[in-house]
Amino acid sequence: MALARRRFDCLILGAGGAGLNAALRLSNADLRVAVVSKVFPTRSHTVAAQGGVNAALANVLPDSWHWHMFDTVKGSDYLGDQDAIEFMCREAIPTVYELEHDGVPFSRLDNGKIYQRAFGGQSQNFGGAQAARTCAAADRTGHAILHTLFQQNIRAKTHFFDEFFAVDLIRDDEGAILGALVLEIETGEPVLIEAKTTLIATGGCGQIFRTTSNAHINTGDGMAMALRAGVPLEDMEFFQFHPTGVAGKGMLITEGCRGEGGFLVNGAGERFMERYAPNAKDLASRDVVSRAIATEVREGRGAGPDKDYVLLKLSHLGADIIGKRLPGIRETCKTFLHIDPVDTPIPVFPTAHYVMGGIPTDRFGRVVAPSGTGAEEVVPGLYAAGECACVSVHGANRLGGNSLLDILVFGRAAGQDIIQFLKEHPHHRPMNEASVDQAVARLDRWDRKGDGPRVKDLRAELTKVMEDHCGVYRVEDVMAEGVERVRAIRARIGEARLTDHSRTFNTARIEALELDNLADVALATIASALHRQESRGAHSRVDYPDRDDRNWLKHTLYQLDGDRVDYKPVRTKPLTVESFPPKERVY
Ligand code: FUM
Repeated sequence: MALARRRFDCLILGAGGAGLNAALRLSNADLRVAVVSKVFPTRSHTVAAQGGVNAALANVLPDSWHWHMFDTVKGSDYLGDQDAIEFMCREAIPTVYELEHDGVPFSRLDNGKIYQRAFGGQSQNFGGAQAARTCAAADRTGHAILHTLFQQNIRAKTHFFDEFFAVDLIRDDEGAILGALVLEIETGEPVLIEAKTTLIATGGCGQIFRTTSNAHINTGDGMAMALRAGVPLEDMEFFQFHPTGVAGKGMLITEGCRGEGGFLVNGAGERFMERYAPNAKDLASRDVVSRAIATEVREGRGAGPDKDYVLLKLSHLGADIIGKRLPGIRETCKTFLHIDPVDTPIPVFPTAHYVMGGIPTDRFGRVVAPSGTGAEEVVPGLYAAGECACVSVHGANRLGGNSLLDILVFGRAAGQDIIQFLKEHPHHRPMNEASVDQAVARLDRWDRKGDGPRVKDLRAELTKVMEDHCGVYRVEDVMAEGVERVRAIRARIGEARLTDHSRTFNTARIEALELDNLADVALATIASALHRQESRGAHSRVDYPDRDDRNWLKHTLYQLDGDRVDYKPVRTKPLTVESFPPKERVY
């Protein structure tokens, strides 16, 4: 049967906040936009963001975008690119007001202004007292934003391909991206979407770890597609473990709990964060709090029968505040733990949460990759935004509340740059049928049952290896063994057997394609981590405990081709203000 083909000005892969914010700009400019999403758009992972979005509105305490910038650079352990960080922190303010006008139901202060709560790593006046910068819709901020953006896109007549899975990018011999092959999940029919521009906004890859706050859908599909198209991934070793996941399960308990005044205690009832971060305490940066919890447990001071978690106390906040500011957390605790945080502390432990690395882009969302000569060049027609991208505004550690900000600011910036690009490049480039055939062949590989190990067993093995070999604390020989084990799992995928329900549901094929993606992204993560011989932000090496600016103040670039790792400099020059030079990072 002939391959179905559709044509659009812009193809957006992913319907989270980044994809939908870009789509809205484009549809409002009367361009033809296709949004492809493997789940119904309002089930994209943005919906799970709880605590809020950072912007220096100064509604609760004095604030400025420049202080926000300082905190973000320091939070990044000085690995973030300061031009992009300045851009993001400045843009935060109009971005939040724009959302408010689009209809996001933010919580309100008594004076009617947007409610803002304290989050980790925030300060006034370049490292002074705690700031309150996180704009919140109770503890369901992502839900409020995603639904608003979806409704606005419906109004703007964005074309949605709901429950379609993107298989691979299509490119020509000059490396320009021409669209993607996608698969309708329900029917199993492939469709070629030809596009003058393609934006990858597929979110993160938390599913490479066994215990994660990420939804089952976060399998790094866009990152793996970029790798296969010859684009390296940047800084993949920097994976954030959120301090407060539900112990043993991984679901997110928002940092907003600590922002509202909750605190952590160990098995002896001690507020241990006072020892690790004497000023910021429970609101230190996430990498600091996660390491503190892991250390308490490792040194035998955990809580519970096996002393393998710590406790988050909220009871002193009272039922009113918990009901008003943290209703979702109360519900999560009741549903999954059968406890009420109004009277019982929550058992928590770090959970894999967010990848700081991703597809390298500039602050306009354009994908930039080393060319044949090694110089950086824009990949024609290709954009990336959101968690799958690395601008890099988070460097080695992201601050809470900066991820919703990142997706909104850079989704918008990408949309605007695409509008400009399309004015200058109004025509489709000729299709490259060889690249289409290659993508179809990748799909056809799974048109069989197979007789090797089951897909779901390989996935479980992969996530266990990543958890055991590339977790909060890392060390050379353990990671080296992990790299070999991930490679071995990857080599067995070709023989894998689709899961039992394959004859009934086409989802078995999707699971196999996702496993392929997970394995590529997991290898990028652990191989990059093995190479970086220092501790910085979320990358904590027991064998190299110090940050080493002389040798390692640089970004990693991992290439699928030959498992190669290269490096590129950090952009330390901001747009208009002075650089923040690296300093010892204390909270
Ligand atoms: O803790 C949280 O609510 C998560 C926020 C974030 O990752 O930015």
